[in-house]
Amino acid sequence: MAKFKTLDDLDLTGKRVLVRADLNVPVADGKVTDATRIERLIPTLREIVKVDGKAIILSHFGRPKGKVDPEFSLEQVVPAVVEALGHPVGFIATDWVDVARARQAIDEAPAGSVLVLENTRFHPGEEKNDPDLARRMASLGDLYVNDAFSAAHRAHASTEAVARLLPAAAGLAMQEELLALEKGLGNPERPVIAIVGGAKVSTKLELLGNLISKVDALVIGGAMANTFLHAGGLGVGKSLAEKDLAETANTIRDKADAVHCAIILPIDATVAWRFEANAPHRFYGADAIDPDGMILDVGPGSIERIKGAIDEARTVVWNGPLGAFEMAPFDQGTVEVARYVAARTKAGKVVSVAGGGDTVAALAHAGVKEKFTYVSTAGGAFLEWMEGKSLPGVEALKG
Ligand code: 3PG
Ligand code: MG
Repeated sequence: MAKFKTLDDLDLTGKRVLVRADLNVPVADGKVTDATRIERLIPTLREIVKVDGKAIILSHFGRPKGKVDPEFSLEQVVPAVVEALGHPVGFIATDWVDVARARQAIDEAPAGSVLVLENTRFHPGEEKNDPDLARRMASLGDLYVNDAFSAAHRAHASTEAVARLLPAAAGLAMQEELLALEKGLGNPERPVIAIVGGAKVSTKLELLGNLISKVDALVIGGAMANTFLHAGGLGVGKSLAEKDLAETANTIRDKADAVHCAIILPIDATVAWRFEANAPHRFYGADAIDPDGMILDVGPGSIERIKGAIDEARTVVWNGPLGAFEMAPFDQGTVEVARYVAARTKAGKVVSVAGGGDTVAALAHAGVKEKFTYVSTAGGAFLEWMEGKSLPGVEALKG
């Protein structure tokens, strides 16, 4: 990994520091329901204010499509930042067309202030990586710090162009995340096992293609596995499967064979006849799935097989649940394997890195979100990283 700059490369003392955060957090009834992204930002904010810098937070929130829209105002997230920081936080409204008033508010704020600027996506230039908007952003700070790995797959004015206009570095959360990902796939201890689940092969083709070239074993679960089972000539009954991707699935298996990446598919499954919590269910061998049934989880034999593969590994990378984990008892495979990875991590046997929207929810459901070596809160950015792509927001911090 080419080296990125960190806070150690900047002198923050008394400076106006633009901090690109990801305050794109879930909100229901005006309240933040998961503040993980905010909590991870706090160490960087503290580094700045402790040396009398001003931390000026830049973030998008939702997808307001380049227009000022009160529904997407970042003001509603400020109380959650105050709570996580334990210190007052100012809010600065702006339409991003004219930033003179915002600049004045920043200048007038006392040293050590934390300020949140209005949603960067209120201006159409944000998503276009517009250099003029980036110049207006840059005029509000002396330094730029990016602590938003989860937005780093976007080449936007606040993640990319502005980073090229000011001395720029990764914040502490971004730094921790990049180092964890490096341990996961960049330069991992071998053997490496990847566990990939979720519904669709079609959304994870690039990811699977990249993983087989990097890992020693690849566990495939979730409805994605049904596509592979079907492609291998097995019946999957009424299960969710992308039957038109059979050839693609077989090509992936052939390529994996060629590079000696073991593909581990379910050998049995939990089958139900209705897609609902606590629906009556039975275990079937993968070669004998009831034609009227639906595979909703990996079966007990598969769970043991996966645990055995984890025993062989020094590094585990995970994206996507193994079954319909939102509905008991079809959460069993995901929960058992997640707890097993957590236990192996605690015992010092593996480094474990997980990420992606559903994955974090699944690990939280299993009670092990804090027990992996690193859990990324990124969705799209984590997937692009697993696909082996370089992320524009990270690239802009190198150099
Ligand atoms: C996310 O929540 O995935 C990031 O904040 C990026 O948001 P976006 O998908 O709207 O760009
Ligand atoms: Mg997204």
